[in-house]
Amino acid sequence: MQAAASMSIAPTGAALGAEIRGVDLARDLDSETFGRIEEAFDRHGVIFFRGQTITVEQQIAFARRFGNVEINVNTQACLQGRPEVLLVSNVKENGRYIGLADAGTTWHTDMSAYACPPRCSILHAIEVPRAADGTVLGDTIFASAAAAYDALAPELKSRLEGRRSTHSYLAKMMARKAAVGLTREVTPEHLEKTPPVAHPVFRTHPVTGRKCLYVTEGECIGIDGMAEADAVPLISRLHRHLIDPRFQYRHRWRVGDVLMWDNCTCQHLAVRDYGESLRRLMHRVTVNGSVPF
Ligand code: SIN
Repeated sequence: MQAAASMSIAPTGAALGAEIRGVDLARDLDSETFGRIEEAFDRHGVIFFRGQTITVEQQIAFARRFGNVEINVNTQACLQGRPEVLLVSNVKENGRYIGLADAGTTWHTDMSAYACPPRCSILHAIEVPRAADGTVLGDTIFASAAAAYDALAPELKSRLEGRRSTHSYLAKMMARKAAVGLTREVTPEHLEKTPPVAHPVFRTHPVTGRKCLYVTEGECIGIDGMAEADAVPLISRLHRHLIDPRFQYRHRWRVGDVLMWDNCTCQHLAVRDYGESLRRLMHRVTVNGSVPF
């Protein structure tokens, strides 16, 4: 059993994110240690632990402390025998990607086109690409949707308070295809499971009560009570505000990192700057969330 005494929290100094030190996720966490981790997670939106050596079972067990684990609709990209683990990877075996190679390659918050989007996603870095000169590639950039809300013009806050925006999985996949290309197949079965859904433009964090901007360019196709011709440019404007560099934290991966993000408080982008010849492999476990309000 691991006790809280050895643990410390080091904020990144950016608008979100903190490193948790002195915790070995391969060991059971006592309730006080877990409570401090959960509190840091709710407060900072992104937390990470360096140098972890954990099994797939230990990653799943850690995720289960935060809620029920989801199985991704892209089941062909899940670890064989362990569908709780989604492989995020550009690695190919027998001419096929072993996981999702396009995951996260445009700004988004996970599965917002679901009626009940996930609370958090937890990545364990197994292989991290490096250029010939040693530069680490394949960073992930996070943007604070809470800080973005706080900095929004009062006029926009009052104009959009109580409004809902429609999120479309099909629109998201089409936008990603146009922007960076898609390596996954979007099947009629996926689309059937993910009909467009309306969520508040300003979502409230269920624990901290902070308001978060919850729209994504390309994925959100309208705002209720507004003509499409007005809504779509407004969504783009709000989203550009959300991903402004002043609200960002950029994570440079090391093998053994375990990092988790809050899908209410932040959006993220996986930087695809490493091509096909350098390997990147992440194990992702996703935890159920609650209906946005
Ligand atoms: C994701 O959005 O799940 C992928 C993030 C990453 O690979 O950095």
